[in-house]
Parts: sequence; C-alpha cells; structure tokens
Amino acid sequence: MYAIEMVNINKRFGNLQANKDVHFCLEQGEIHALLGENGAGKTTLMRILYGLYHPDSGEILVNGEKTQISSPKDAIQAGIGMVTQHFTLVPTLTVAENVVLGYTHSATISQKEIEAKVKASSEKFGVQVDPSALVKYLSVGERQRVEILKALYRNAKVLIMDEPTAVLVPQEVDALFESLLKLVKSGLSVIFISHKLNEVMAVCDRITVLRDGEVTGIVKKQDTTQKDLARMMVGRETSTQRMSSTRKRGQVTYEMKDLHVLNPQGLEALKGISLSLHSGEILGIAGVSGNGQSELTKVLTGLLTPTQGSVTLEGQDLTHASPAEITQAGVGRTPEDRHEGMIGDLTVAENLAMEDLDHYTHNGFLDQKAILKDAEQKIKDFQIKAAPTDALRKLSGGNMQKVVLARALSRHPKVVIASQPTRGLDVGATEYIRKRLTAERDRGAAVLLLSEDLDEIMMLSDRIAVIYEGCIKGILSASEASTEKLGLLMAGAC
Ligand SMILES: Nc1ncnc2c1ncn2[C@@H]1O[C@H](COP(=O)(O)OP(=O)(O)OP(=O)(O)O)[C@@H](O)[C@H]1O
Ligand SMILES: [Mg+2]
Repeated sequence: MYAIEMVNINKRFGNLQANKDVHFCLEQGEIHALLGENGAGKTTLMRILYGLYHPDSGEILVNGEKTQISSPKDAIQAGIGMVTQHFTLVPTLTVAENVVLGYTHSATISQKEIEAKVKASSEKFGVQVDPSALVKYLSVGERQRVEILKALYRNAKVLIMDEPTAVLVPQEVDALFESLLKLVKSGLSVIFISHKLNEVMAVCDRITVLRDGEVTGIVKKQDTTQKDLARMMVGRETSTQRMSSTRKRGQVTYEMKDLHVLNPQGLEALKGISLSLHSGEILGIAGVSGNGQSELTKVLTGLLTPTQGSVTLEGQDLTHASPAEITQAGVGRTPEDRHEGMIGDLTVAENLAMEDLDHYTHNGFLDQKAILKDAEQKIKDFQIKAAPTDALRKLSGGNMQKVVLARALSRHPKVVIASQPTRGLDVGATEYIRKRLTAERDRGAAVLLLSEDLDEIMMLSDRIAVIYEGCIKGILSASEASTEKLGLLMAGAC
C-alpha cells in the first residue's frame, strides 16, 4: 500500500497542459525525488496534492483510500504537509507561536505552555529549534526547520518539500538531510523536489522524472546515475567542463576601493573590499553565504550606500548612484531574489522592457509592438517557456529566473553582476546560463559572479576571490584554485 498514489492526474492552464496523465506513487517511509526541467509541472502536481489546485481529472489515494483534497485543510487532515520556498511564517511571532498558530484551539493557552509543547515536539522529532526565538531573527535554514516542525506538529505523515535546498548553504543542506533521514526512519514519507542531481542521489530512494507535464521515468537510485537522470530530463548529454577563458583579458574597467557597508543591524558587513575587474574576465566570489555577498551585490547595484570607499566604472564614479543610474551606466544585474525588480502582475514582455522604457518611447508613446517583438526574441533566445503576454506570476520559478537574466543580459552591459544566477534552474537552463555568462565575458564584459555553488565558481571563473566575514581573504587564478584551497579560505584560514 502506498502512502500516496496520484492516478491519471491532468491539469491544464489555458492551452498549457501542465500535468498529463501523471501517475505518481510514494511508498511508506521513502524519500522520493521529483525531477524535471523548469516548467515540467512538478510544483503543479504538488499543489494539487496539497489542495491548492484542483485537477481537471484524476484521483488521489492516501494509504490506499480515495481521498478528496480540495484545500490545504483537507491535505493536513489527510496527514500531508508542505514546505515551500516562500515561507509562510509570521516574522514578528516566536517559533512556538508560529508552530501552533491556527492549530491549537484553546485561546487561553499561555506562552509557557505553547513553548513547552513545541519543545517536546522538537525533541520528539529531532528537529532542533529554539521555541522562544523570534522568527525574524532566524536564518533561512532555521526558518525552514520551523516550517518542517510546523507540519510534523500537525501530524504530517507525508512531507512535500519544493526545492528546499535552493535557499540553504551547504552546511544547512547537510543538516536538513540528516534530519530527513532520521524522520523517514520513524515512518515519515517525503517528496523532495530539487534540480541538484548530487542531492537527489545523496538522499533519495526513488526518482520520478517529469518532462512537459508527463512522467518520463521512475527509477530506483541504485539503478541510475546523475548522467542518466540528466538525459531523462533534458534528452541529451550535459557538460560540467571548466569554461574559463583562453583569451587575454583587457584593461581594468570596474573598480571597488575599500568598500565599507553597514547591515540593517548596524554591524559592519563589508570591511574594506577592494577588487578590480578587467574587461573580458569572470571574477568569481566564493564564500559561505552570509559573509557579505548580498551586501556587496546591494552596494554595487545601488540598494545600499557604502559608509566608506568607492566604486567606479571606466573612471565614472558610481559610489552613490541610484539603481537606475547604475543600470544606465552599463551595469547589468541579476538579483539574488528573482522577485526583486520584477512585477508579477505585469506581462513577461513588460517586465523585459521595464528597465529600457526610454528605448521604447517615441513621441511620448510606448511602442507596444516593439516591446512584444523584442520579448518574443528574448523568449526564444533564453528558451523561456512562456508567451510575451503571460502574466509573470504564472511562470514556473525557473522560467521567472530566465526572464530576469534575459533582461539583464540583452542590453550588453559592460559589467555583469550575477548573483546566484542559476539558483533554481534545471540542468539544461543552468548550462545555458553559464554559456551566456561566458559569452558575455568573451564579448568583453567584466563579470562578477557570486555563487554559493563552488563547482559553478570553479567552472566559470578566470580568477576567484574568497570572501569571509566581509573581507577578501585571497584571490586565486583559475589554474591554482582547488576545492581544498578555496574551502580553507572560505573557512577563514589564512
Ligand atoms: N496558476 C497558473 N496559471 C497559469 N499557468 C501556470 C500556473 N501555474 C503553473 N503554470 C504553468 O504550468 C507549467 C508548469 O509549472 P510548474 O510550476 O509546475 O513547473 P515546475 O516543474 O515546478 O518548474 P520549476 O522547476 O521552474 O519550479 C509552467 O509552464 C507554468 O507556467
Ligand atoms: Mg516549481
């Protein structure tokens, strides 16, 4: 008997068949990966299971019994919990309050009682949280643990995790896996969505692959390899070769000198960063997240003002420039959070044109035709699964990310600030974006690549700088960099 069986699930959005006769089985106590390219229909299938979407046809069996799931409430009742990437916690409440929120019926329960309950539950499931901590002070990894505990507290026997690791640093990923492996031993069944094949191979028992809404394979981990999985998803071989430049780099174009920045808590997040980027090179920034990377991106894109130091592009001072002025000066940026700078209610075409409205304005009128025509081209170039007139919010996560990149790169910027450019992207799209970034470099752009994925940094960069606690710990050339050397610097060793 399966923990979950989804039979012949069909779901259509307009002309798009997001799920087509999908048959999906989850065994008791297994971790089952759901794999597939961006837009393959993974999230849709899970939203159906959690009662957020209604299938056009098909049925769901929970423990062998046909079950009607029309809302998340029904799903929770049936023992199904879901942890999404965008957490649903209330930041101003404590961990304990968040866990019991909406579940404990007694209105008179005291803070102490709540905390004791949550502590007991945290110990029972081995999911470490501090019940009295305010959620707003927690790291992403900690918040995710709270979400997991929240589901378990509601007696979830099946846990859906939609790209849980996309937001975690490597250490947090390890902790999550440890915790999941413990939980499945005590009977939990997990559906795990990820684009990272090494994670899937590390933690999952079986894998179901979706392609264009259809199941293209169901395999046991021991019967497959990362290569096979990639082939099943994209239908061809993918490469992981080093892509550093063979050409000579140009002059220094982009310079940061002695940058100091305070974070919102008033602590110094950057303590004197100096970096020079040459045209025609990719400078990678390696580091464990939280060591100043996001502050660095924010300063360079005009979202934070440095307390000291300067930024110049071909001699032009950009230290105190606004985001719009920085874009105009020729800096293309892909923000860390793909929702930043995007408007969900506008169309794909409008979002693509947004930073370039001057270009599309003639005699005071926006040239809608040109906007649509250019959007069509960009959609084709970047292989975005969407139409120009689709509302952006309807796109799958990875396709949204491609829109962000298409907008940043199609203006041929002099400097590209690529912050986590492939986060949440499938194997094929990741490969494509990496090629695009190297093409930008070969065209002569200076590319600053910030990524938590060390393999990505090593694959693309011509030079690698390691950031640690707001300082640059060292800069290595691609040829002298190794995982060991970088790892040591990332841990703060000199
Ligand atoms: N509410 C909606 N309205 C219209 N189309 C939608 C809606 N939700 C999803 N879609 C479309 O259905 C398809 C499948 O999307 P889904 O989010 O399930 O993909 P996914 O496999 O989770 O992709 P990713 O890896 O990028 O997260 C996409 O083409 C998406 O644009
Ligand atoms: Mg998804």
